[in-house]
Amino acid sequence: MAINRRNFINLSSLGIAGFSLQGFINTNQVKVQKPIVIATWDAGINANKGAWEVLSKGGTALDAVEKGVMVTEDEISCCVGLGANPDRDGHVTLDASIMDHEFNCGSVAFLEKIKHPISVARKVMEKTPHVMLVGEGAQQFALSQGFTLESGNLSETADKAYKEWLKKSTYKPVINVERQSPTSQLEDKYKAPTRFANGDWNHDTIGMVALDIHGNLSGSCTTSGAGFKLRGRVGDSPIIGAGLYVDNEVGAVVATGQGEDVIRVAGASAVVEHMRQGKTPQEACRLVVEKIKRIKKEKANDIQVCFIALNKNGAYGSYALHDGFNFAVQSNDENKLINAPYNY
Ligand code: GLY
Repeated sequence: MAINRRNFINLSSLGIAGFSLQGFINTNQVKVQKPIVIATWDAGINANKGAWEVLSKGGTALDAVEKGVMVTEDEISCCVGLGANPDRDGHVTLDASIMDHEFNCGSVAFLEKIKHPISVARKVMEKTPHVMLVGEGAQQFALSQGFTLESGNLSETADKAYKEWLKKSTYKPVINVERQSPTSQLEDKYKAPTRFANGDWNHDTIGMVALDIHGNLSGSCTTSGAGFKLRGRVGDSPIIGAGLYVDNEVGAVVATGQGEDVIRVAGASAVVEHMRQGKTPQEACRLVVEKIKRIKKEKANDIQVCFIALNKNGAYGSYALHDGFNFAVQSNDENKLINAPYNY
């Protein structure tokens, strides 16, 4: 039987991965799907298009994951870029990270008035001996690298949402469900349009991982974090190992959802380690989501956490705590949205 990608996925999903799969990798018998890029949520469709412009021309995964999420940073959404919801004091503060195939990584947190935090994160990686810069220092560094200081005015959408939120000023996490699933059992109050209109606390992240034609993996993520958060709050996205992790021998993973709960299990790194042990990307994501569920006990009802994972062969998978998470996959000029499997 020829070992094509479909067989590879079927075998691994049946648990026949591990030793035999490793053998296939070593003898190059697995057909590797590359280039390929996957990204979180439906915003991932446009982000993938940005990444694909790089990947389809033989560019690097690192360039692709930067360019890809820049597309989302330019869009107006609740949760990414300067157009996003502010913190409870009315300031938009941004977190981002990037990691390449050689364990090089950079991140910024609590960054204000800079349009493309992902590109600042890359400069941190490439131009400094550090991994992470925060707040005023991150902003000063960005300016020193030629980035422009933006106004700090809220977008029209964010201004409206903030004014709505101020009426109650509650600080109540609401699970993040962007997709309107016809099969969803969620109450309407949890669904995104209702939440946004109510000015509820909400968040998500554009996260992206890619495998380039050269066989190298990279990943990126960028977010404004939790809308109406406490000033100074930083989530998982700029924390290497939590919101993002890449090990070029194994795979690349990004997280979205409630950052605090991703940080407490070193989420992205944990998913990579499960893949190293032979789990498929989806299985690896599921194991970490289920760990979070165990830790949170009944509070798991109130949060959303999701992972997307891509392994060295271009096989991908995802898993979410709750229904409603989707992710975009682009390869061979096809860019499609997939509903992630979920626990609840
Ligand atoms: N996952 C994004 C955040 O919690 O900030």
